[in-house]
Amino acid sequence: MEPVVVKDNVYWVGSVDWNVRNFHGYSTHQGTTYNAFLAIDDKVTLFDTVKPGFGGELVDKIRQITDPEKIDYIVVDHVEMDHSGCLPEIVSLVKPEKIFCSPMGKDALLHHFHRDDWPYQVVKTGDRISLGKRTVEFLETRMLHWPDSMFSYIPEDKLLISNDGFGQHWATSERFDDEVDSSELFKQAAKYYANILLPFSSRVTAAFQEVREKNWAFDTIATDHGLIWRRDVDKILQSYVKWSRQEATAKALVVYDTMWHSTAKMASAVLDGLLLEGLSVRLFDLRANSRDDIMTDVLDAKAIVFGSSTINNGMLPQMADMLSYMKGLKPTGKIGAAFGSYGWSGEAVKLLNHMMEEMKFEVPDPGIRVKYVPTDADLAKCVELGRKIGKAVNERL
Ligand code: FEO
Repeated sequence: MEPVVVKDNVYWVGSVDWNVRNFHGYSTHQGTTYNAFLAIDDKVTLFDTVKPGFGGELVDKIRQITDPEKIDYIVVDHVEMDHSGCLPEIVSLVKPEKIFCSPMGKDALLHHFHRDDWPYQVVKTGDRISLGKRTVEFLETRMLHWPDSMFSYIPEDKLLISNDGFGQHWATSERFDDEVDSSELFKQAAKYYANILLPFSSRVTAAFQEVREKNWAFDTIATDHGLIWRRDVDKILQSYVKWSRQEATAKALVVYDTMWHSTAKMASAVLDGLLLEGLSVRLFDLRANSRDDIMTDVLDAKAIVFGSSTINNGMLPQMADMLSYMKGLKPTGKIGAAFGSYGWSGEAVKLLNHMMEEMKFEVPDPGIRVKYVPTDADLAKCVELGRKIGKAVNERL
């Protein structure tokens, strides 16, 4: 692929990873991209690099613009390996005059690459450097989503280089938001937020406040994953505000795993009850849905009802995986309930309730346990459970 002009003398020189399907546990059904940007100025500057294995592509694209050895500065906005993994080969080739990074970035670089001979220059929030015709101002965005993360802002180009912020895991030949289907783009951006940034939502709010106070004016957000925003800048900013507030809608999820379909029958009955209360509902069998796709719907759901059969005095392992993952992502303000079938001991519902307590869910009902196979009366109770949760959602919104 060719380099792509982002702004006059600023180029996308990243890589498209068409085939990655698992990004440290995140299911990338449509691949991803590792975006890096090259600014041609008195000081030729490379913003971020790419994942190990893609360094050759990066260098090939740079060569189509300039000799890589003419690069003076490298800016490391984030040290995670998908952006810094080929830094050793790039530093070796380029021999940069300076490598700019945040204070936490320097610490992380030293612990990743063990190279105390690189020409680090630590920059903090508000620091500016001149590239010649353009300047770069930095904003530390700690815990968005690593301690080292930062944004680079180029006022002359009205360009914000946002690293992971506003990213999407979506491999496309197009590079800009106005060139792809908008609903798919925002779905991918929401999935990215739900699975990467959700636990740091308060930091998103704080970062937005800092950007507002600085009066930064930008018409393009060059994220390091997926499509570059230039048409829907306001819309993605507003979406981040909404997602960071964890604003919920009249929507409920039924998430379950089942051994011999008893818990599945209960799940359908709970769904019926939720529908009777007028909610928008999604049913997720954990055997058929990945935890990270479910998290996309968790983002704006007010209620989540969990179902699991009991196995060996516990819940089914895929439910334990789902809850462990969800707990780490810290969803807030949810209403929940539990149900499940059992044979003799029946601990799953109690354990599901415990996990919901730990996640600070409001749990208005102790839940329903059914021995072996539900009767029509049992299923009627499940419908009532759905209705109770549905009513609670309607009362809270
Ligand atoms: Fe895309 Fe946190 O790395």
